[in-house]
Amino acid sequence: MKKDFLSIRDRTREEILATLSLASTVKSHPEKFASSLKGRTLAMIFEKPSLRTRATFDIGIQQLGGFSLLLLPTEINLGKRESLYDVTKNLERMVQGIMIRTFSHQVVLDMARFASVPVINGLTDYSHPCQAMADYFTIQETKGSLAGLKLCYVGDGNNVAHSLMFAGARLGVHVTITCPKGYEPNPDALRLAMDDASLSGASIEISHDPDTAVHAADVVYTDVWASMGQESEAEERRKIFQPFQVNRKLMGKAKPGAIFMHCLPAHRGDEVTDEVIDAEYSVVFQQAENRLHVQKAIMLQLMQ
Ligand code: CP
Ligand code: NVA
Repeated sequence: MKKDFLSIRDRTREEILATLSLASTVKSHPEKFASSLKGRTLAMIFEKPSLRTRATFDIGIQQLGGFSLLLLPTEINLGKRESLYDVTKNLERMVQGIMIRTFSHQVVLDMARFASVPVINGLTDYSHPCQAMADYFTIQETKGSLAGLKLCYVGDGNNVAHSLMFAGARLGVHVTITCPKGYEPNPDALRLAMDDASLSGASIEISHDPDTAVHAADVVYTDVWASMGQESEAEERRKIFQPFQVNRKLMGKAKPGAIFMHCLPAHRGDEVTDEVIDAEYSVVFQQAENRLHVQKAIMLQLMQ
């Protein structure tokens, strides 16, 4: 297994399934792992806001017997007060792992190259692999299996969409991204996911018609229309994305028994209505909790 966890594509299908399996054991028997990372420290660098990532890594490392060190932009001012290289070379002598949430994916790739300790991607503009791991863990928990399922992602072809495609492609899940024209996933990410899918029996499709795209979907997934860093586009996007709102009418076109997912935070009334996110088929808080169990598994694999 690679030293770092920067992208779902860093892992083979077998490695992903092994992490999900370990996460299941961690979830059912947390006490078995209470000292597994005793005395080990995870540095957490956040250049963007967070609730779930911050809480689950912080609580997760402590539940494994270790410590967390929170580093906010006001303190380290990455790349301005001190270069990325120097920050990394300092931290690797003090901590046993670094989780970083930042804007440019290149920053995470460079940090991993500089660091002798594992680096974990806690979200970049390109991808959100920890989220996708927790999401497929949640789907497996709810549906009992993964291969052959159909996941329809409705909305912006963003970081979350990329990681869902990459993981679906590895795991044999059919992923359809339905989005307004001009808001498709990054073409390189799409090509990579399609290449991977051709090896696993999965399929990756793009659609601009949400009504037909959700047809027969086992999972309907959405995310905010304007991601962190795109706040100035929020008003324009609100108009463009309106036909892609996940509401009861759209959910009614999915497969009977379909679940609703959202990485959160949600903008209720925009990409999803209250009646959907609060419905019994919504698993959004189960997803959020599963970030904890899955990331504990990832830290166990990388930091022991
Ligand atoms: N889903 C997710 O990563 O949430 P936060 O932005 O709150 O960490
Ligand atoms: N696409 C969202 C995900 C937040 C967890 C963003 O990047 O803001």
